[in-house]
This record gives sequence, structure tokens and C-alpha cells, in this order.
Amino acid sequence: MPINWFPGHMNSTRQAIKDRVKAGLDVVIELLDARLPGSSSNPLLAALTTGRPALKVLNKQDLADPAVTADWLAHYNAQPHTRAIPLDAGDKSPARAIVKACRELAPQRGDMHKPLRVLICGIPNVGKSTLINTLVGRKAAKTGDEPGITKIEQKIVLENGFYLFDTPGMLWPRIGIEQSGYHLAASGAIGRNAFDEAEVALELIAVLKRRYPDRLQERYGLAELGAEDAVLEAIGLKRGAKIRGGAVQMHKAAEALLVDYRQGLLGRITLETPAEMAAWRRAAAED
Ligand code: G4P
Repeated sequence: MPINWFPGHMNSTRQAIKDRVKAGLDVVIELLDARLPGSSSNPLLAALTTGRPALKVLNKQDLADPAVTADWLAHYNAQPHTRAIPLDAGDKSPARAIVKACRELAPQRGDMHKPLRVLICGIPNVGKSTLINTLVGRKAAKTGDEPGITKIEQKIVLENGFYLFDTPGMLWPRIGIEQSGYHLAASGAIGRNAFDEAEVALELIAVLKRRYPDRLQERYGLAELGAEDAVLEAIGLKRGAKIRGGAVQMHKAAEALLVDYRQGLLGRITLETPAEMAAWRRAAAED
């Protein structure tokens, strides 16, 4: 069953982005999850900021497959008025790469008289609060599970003549493609009650079997990989997710796999490639 998640309206976010465009906006930063760049992008942002140069920051690159991250970077860098950079929370001075890329995108701005005005947006859990905290060097934005704390636009002066604006409200993920729903759920970006963990785990196993079979085998000591449900059952057996009588509790097995994946314990894994994403979008448009 496809995942449908409508956590709340985005009217306030939409308005905040519109207000920023009106007040002056030179570059839009979209924070993406490097494990699922296509699925973690929200087309609303592009629609509201048309004509503005875009910087795609592929965050959490430490959890993503470096070869596929390179493909995504090339994909975005080939688009007009667009730059893409990889990043993760381990980078202690992320401002350097961000400032450099934004200055290249809008070379006409960036002094005291004409400051460079940059907006940063991203869906929940993509790491925006963590990044902003590092940028300002103190606990300015709250991190953690509970999204939607910031109520007013925050302005961060990264350098003389360089203003970074953080929108209030939430840019929720948009699930227009079935596969994106599974990827967002597997990554931890959407509410836990909105999906069936076993179903998401089976989809994750399908991706892993196709692209990273050795990781599954190594992590769970599986000599061979059968059908997805058999793999999930085998994971459950290894994790002691059995009930009296010997049957495996599939939701427990699923939870174990999802936690391992989110923590990077299966290694650096990317769930989608630019080519796959393009094919899913084409198929969705034809429906
Ligand atoms: P948000 O504001 O976009 O909603 O995201 P936030 O910064 O709260 O980050 C969501 C989770 O992702 C946090 O983990 C955070 O530590 C983690 N995270 C952020 N950036 C990176 C990164 O580059 N690499 C990795 N591996 N993780 C990152 P959490 O478990 O929810 O909280 P906590 O463990 O930090 O307390």
C-alpha cells in the first residue's frame, strides 16, 4: 500500500518563502538527504523561487554511498543556475563551502551595500537545525525529533555582506511517487505512525538485495538471500524477534533493520540514483 502522509498544511511556510522572495532573495539553498536526494526534495520550493539560483546541499553524505553521491552532484551541477555540494555534520566549518558556492551563483551581490541574501530550506530530519547550530556556533535552532519550532524568520550573518535566512514553519516532504514514500520512511523523515514498518523494511530489503547484497549478508550473517520476506524473517531470527512457538515477529525484525539502516550500521547506502528517480517521475506523470 503506498504511503500517504499529510502532516499539516504548509500555508505559513509558503507565505514565509513568498515574503522572503519579495523582500529580496539571491540564492536558495535546498538541504537534501544524500541517501535520497530526489525523494527529499520538495518541488514547492523550486516553484516559489523560480528564477533564483539554487544550491543543493547533499547533507548526511557520511551515510550515503560516495559513488552515487558523485552521480547526484554531477546531475545537479549540469542544471542551469544550480550548484551542488556534499556535506555532513562532521564538517566543522560548513560555512566555507556554502559561502563559496553561493558567491559563485550570485557574483553580483555580496558586499555591504548589496548583501547576498540566501534562504535555507529542507524537509524535517534532513539536518537543518544541526547545520544551523554549527553555522552560528551555539544552540540557536533546536535539533531532534520535534519539527516546527522556529516561528519567525531567522537571519544569520555568515560573513560581511552574506545573510542566511531560515524560514519559519515546515517544508514537509511531498510524496508524489510511491518509491519516494518508502525511501522517506526508511530514512526516518516521515512520522512513524504513517506507515507499516514491515512493508517499508521489505522495500528496503529489495533495494539492498539489488544494490548492496553483501552488506545484508555480512550484517546479519546470511549465507544467501532469498525472497524479501524470507530475508526479513532471517533478520528477525538473528535478532531474537521470536514469539513463543517460534514464529518471527515481523514488525520487530523490521524495526531492527530500519534502526540499523538509519544509524549507518549497514554501511554507506543510497536508496536512489538520478536515473531511477527520472524513470519514476516519468512513470508517475503517465499515470
Ligand atoms: P532537522 O532540523 O532538519 O529536522 O534535522 P536535525 O538537525 O534535527 O537532525 C535530524 C537527525 O539527523 C539528528 O539525529 C541529527 O543528529 C542527525 N544528523 C544531522 N546531520 C547529520 C549528518 O550530516 N550526518 C548524520 N549521520 N546525522 C546527521 P537524531 O538522532 O534525531 O538526534 P541526535 O542523535 O542528534 O540527538
